[in-house]
This record gives sequence, C-alpha cells and structure tokens, in this order.
Amino acid sequence: MYDKNDLPLYKSKNEEKLSENEEKKYKEIKEQLIRKKVNDTNITVNNNEINEILIKESIKSEKIINKLKKDLEGYGKIDFLLKDDELEEIMIIGENKPVFIYHRTKGMMKTEIKLTEIEIKQIINKIANFVQRKIDKETPILDARLPNGSRVNATIPPITADGSTITIRKFKKDQLNILDLIKSNTISAHLAAFLWITIDGLNVRPSNIIISGGTGSGKTTTLNTLSSFIPTNERIITIEDTLELQIPQEHIIRTETRPPNIEGKGEIDMDTLLKNSLRQRPDRIIIGEVRSKEAITLFGALNTGHSGMGTLHANSTQDTITRLINPPMNVPSVMINSIDFIIMQNRIHHPEKGIIRRITEVAEVVGMEMNKVQLNKIYQYNYSTDQLEYTAISSKALNEISSMKGVPIQDIKNEIKKREKYLIENSKKEHHNTLETKTIINNYYHNN
Ligand SMILES: Nc1ncnc2c1ncn2[C@@H]1O[C@H](COP(=O)(O)OP(=O)(O)OP(=O)(O)O)[C@@H](O)[C@H]1O
Ligand SMILES: [Mg+2]
Repeated sequence: MYDKNDLPLYKSKNEEKLSENEEKKYKEIKEQLIRKKVNDTNITVNNNEINEILIKESIKSEKIINKLKKDLEGYGKIDFLLKDDELEEIMIIGENKPVFIYHRTKGMMKTEIKLTEIEIKQIINKIANFVQRKIDKETPILDARLPNGSRVNATIPPITADGSTITIRKFKKDQLNILDLIKSNTISAHLAAFLWITIDGLNVRPSNIIISGGTGSGKTTTLNTLSSFIPTNERIITIEDTLELQIPQEHIIRTETRPPNIEGKGEIDMDTLLKNSLRQRPDRIIIGEVRSKEAITLFGALNTGHSGMGTLHANSTQDTITRLINPPMNVPSVMINSIDFIIMQNRIHHPEKGIIRRITEVAEVVGMEMNKVQLNKIYQYNYSTDQLEYTAISSKALNEISSMKGVPIQDIKNEIKKREKYLIENSKKEHHNTLETKTIINNYYHNN
C-alpha cells in the first residue's frame, strides 16, 4: 500500500547548483583528487592540493571551486545540510544510498545526495579527530558533538553491515523556550503554569518530574524549557551522555560521561557522575536521559530529599514505570513514589499541520496499592480538538504545597491562573531567547 519510493525529495535552499558543464568538470576534478587519496588512510585533502589541480586544469568558476572546497575540507557534500535550520536530522545510511533528512515540519524525506564510502569515512574521521577519539574495527561506534552543538553518532562495518553510517541530530540555532512551546501548542499555558508552581514548589515542595516519550518526540527540549522554572537560588547539577541541555541559570555544574579509551579503561558512566554529584550538594539534579543503573542512585537521591528531573524513553506513563522497575534499571517499586509527575510527549503526524509535538498526558504518582504504583491522570490530550485538557479532580502535590504553605488550595489554584495569564501574555510577544525568557520568569517574582 505504502510505497517507500514515494518519499518526497528535499532540496535545500542552501545548495549551490552547478550547470551541466560545471557539474561535469567538477566530477572530473573530484575523481582526480579521490584517486590521489585512495591509498592515504588519513583521507584529508589540503587547500594546496586542490589549488594545484585547479591551476593545472585552469578552472576559474567560483561555483566549482567552492563546491570542491566544501566537499573536501568541511563536511563534504552534506556541508550545506548542516547549515540548514529547517532540518532536524541528517541520516547517512551507507555508500551510494540517498542521504535522508528529517524535516522540522514535513518529516522524513530524501535528498539527491549520495556519498561514496571514502566520503563518508572522511566525514567520520574529521569528527573523530575533532573530539580526539578513534573509530576503528575495535571501537566501531563514535558518539560526538560537533563544534556547533549538533549530536553525532557514527558507525563503521562490521557493526553496520552495508557500510559506514552517520546520524546527526542538528542543534537548533534558536533554542525553543517555554513561551515558544505554549505558542506552538506543544504545552498548554495552564500546564506550563501548573508545572511552574510544582517545579518551584512555592519554595516549600519542589516536584520531581520524568519526561517520557519516543525517539525525537522532544523530551530533551521540554526538559530544557521547564528548567527555566527552577528558582535562581538553587544549585543545579546536570548529568548527560552528550551535552545537550541549555539551562539558563548561572549556578550550574554540567557533567558529561566519558566512554572507555582504546584500552577499554577510563570510562566514567552516569552512575559515577550521579554519585559524585551527591557530594557536591545539589539542590536539583537533572539527568539527560535515564537509561540504566543510575536510575537506582537517582531514586535513592530523590528519596533522601534531593529534587530531580530527567527524560526517559517509553511509550506511555505505565510503560515508564514498567521500564523503571525492570532490568537494567531495577528501581524498587516503593521508590517510584518519589516521582511526582510523568509527562508524556509525542510526535504526531497531523493531517493539516504536518509534524507536531504535543504533551499528550500528565500523570501524577499518588501512591502504592497492593505493591502497584498508582497513577492519577491530570492532563489528557484530545486529538480531535488538538487541546490538552486538565482532567484532575485534585492533585497530591498541590495539596501538599497548600498544607506546607498553610494557605487554602484555592489560593494555589488562583496562583496557577495568574501565572497562566502571565505566560499567555508573554507568549504573544516576539520570540525571546532562553536568557530573556528566564528574565521574564524572574520578573514575575519581583512584581507579585
Ligand atoms: N515542541 C517542539 N516543537 C517543535 N520542534 C521540536 C519540539 N521539541 C523538539 N523539537 C525538535 O525536535 C528534535 C528532537 O528534539 P529532542 O532532542 O528534544 O527530542 P528527544 O525526544 O529528546 O530525542 P531523543 O529520543 O533522540 O533523545 C529537535 O530538532 C528539536 O529542535
Ligand atoms: Mg533526548
């Protein structure tokens, strides 16, 4: 029924088009350069080598020269894709296969670009050199970050049977903030205000939150934007596999895991970083993605009075719990109680709007019954109206804030309404960057 060949073709505005003649000449020169380099394991071509051939062939066309230099120096044929902010992901799946891209609104598409194994290796080596790591038969996987912040995963045979691959999650130049997410309807202003209050906890009871969802559903982005609700007087420690979070607070320590070196030594995993962070007196611990045994350490910390946030790969709120209590995380069920909220986020294909991201459910962990974690659904997304509906009769976290603060629950609800209005007003203004958004949030405290 669904023919994969129908995948739409993507033409980047950044691509420089050559005329037929130029293209022919370009290919000839390219051949010469590649032939020269076939036996060179380093496969890097310097400017002089390009210039030599250009002079020999008396090439004057700026377009050809530019294209050659981009191919052989930068990230080759994909250089212009890397600079294209319309794209979320760039995917190279092997020799002579089209480079696929994931477009921000149109989803999966393919390009006319095809790379040879040498060209793919050249890009991988460049990235590996940059992060001072090695990729070879013994360690055929490379995880890295590009100078512009994009996240890269590369693999080489034998682990990818059909050749080397590169997957690049592009860094968005203009980071999304909570006001953007309200504007684009990823989150409702009411939920944003609700989370604002539960994250700052009115200084008496900050909540612990897990953001769950599938691959590329926008978990990390949501975590990032919610972090602007963390009060500025707190000490934040972040723990990640590759630095992605951009948290606007000044008082922050960012930590990143380290893979083992060539001899298989020197690995520093999330659990080690987390244990270390507990000796650094954190108020708020943020874990990029909870995946493995660090989960137990995290829940231990949450159970002893630290606050935390993190993302987790799961398909539903119940699945989040199932993943947490089973291997490799193995968190004892009783400890799950220390989470207050599970936020589910989804990437949805909307018939008119294209690819959209929505928070589709928020569940509050309300306790244990017969050894089973009890969840209370407090927000539910309505697919037909594209609205996130507040379905809670009451919230345990809000009730606890109310009693610890000694104020009626109605006052807390009024405060949510007030912050909701403030967020709506500000989301209608022009786009703000992360720091400006943090200032807007801080100003609320000064004026109320
Ligand atoms: N609410 C949103 N609206 C529009 N684009 C978004 C939104 N959230 C995230 N994106 C974009 O989607 C891509 C993936 O986002 P993000 O890295 O946050 O997802 P993720 O769920 O953490 O992915 P992964 O499973 O790989 O960790 C990014 O390019 C990001 O800019
Ligand atoms: Mg993520």
